[in-house]
Amino acid sequence: KATPKARRILTSLIQHIHDFTRENHITVDEWMFGVDFINRIGQMSDARRNEGILVSDVVGLEALVDTLTHASDSVGHTSSAIIGPFYRDNSPEYPYGGSIIQKEVGGEKTWVSGIVTDTNGKPLAGAKIEVWHCAPNGLYEQQDPDQPDYNLRGTFYADEQGKYAFIGLRPTAYPIPYDGPAGDLLQMMDRHPMRPGHIHWRVSHPEFHTLITQIYDRDCKYTKDDSVFAVKDDIIVDFKKVASDDKELGDKGVQNRLDYD
Ligand code: DHB
Ligand code: FE
Repeated sequence: KATPKARRILTSLIQHIHDFTRENHITVDEWMFGVDFINRIGQMSDARRNEGILVSDVVGLEALVDTLTHASDSVGHTSSAIIGPFYRDNSPEYPYGGSIIQKEVGGEKTWVSGIVTDTNGKPLAGAKIEVWHCAPNGLYEQQDPDQPDYNLRGTFYADEQGKYAFIGLRPTAYPIPYDGPAGDLLQMMDRHPMRPGHIHWRVSHPEFHTLITQIYDRDCKYTKDDSVFAVKDDIIVDFKKVASDDKELGDKGVQNRLDYD
């Protein structure tokens, strides 16, 4: 039995679909085009590819839902961002400063560090930090037969000061998969499929709300022009070159550094 909210939403949805159909004089052929389009979204989707999310995202729906969901959050924490279609749970756990690069895939090594706090600024020891990003060829490991399972993904736990750090790659801009319905939509609208270089975060703790977010590279030209509208100002960050004589980091062959609260 539907909840009152579910009933209200469904009624509204049907009203809006009818209004849309009337306003645009949708014909039988056009309706059938829409039905085929929706069916194709399902047919394109599997464990490796979530075409429903991709289609949502190119029309800005996930970004809108993210903004609405978190609009009333108390201030003083990092902005949320969309989860996107490529999250996987159970990524390997690494110690503080561990590398999520399981296989050399090129790119610039980057030291990423941060601190997890509650909204009062108190360090949150034991918070679980999951990160994931794609390889310089633009593919997440599950899309790419040449990458080992869980490459460029990792799970970390915040220490007593709330701190964590890892070595990954400076993320590269890349096209979202555009050989399906999401790509067709982009083409119809004369739009590019590029996302700015980004790293994903999922930060959780049993006693707190989970934060899903991303960081974006200020130097990437697509940070101002994201195909899925998911950039927010406070999660744009600067990557800094580390001097080669920086003992602590140089030993790990790191080229960039990113400190993030
Ligand atoms: C989308 C988001 C991502 O983070 C990504 O890597 C690919 C696609 C998206 O919103 O569709
Ligand atoms: Fe992504």
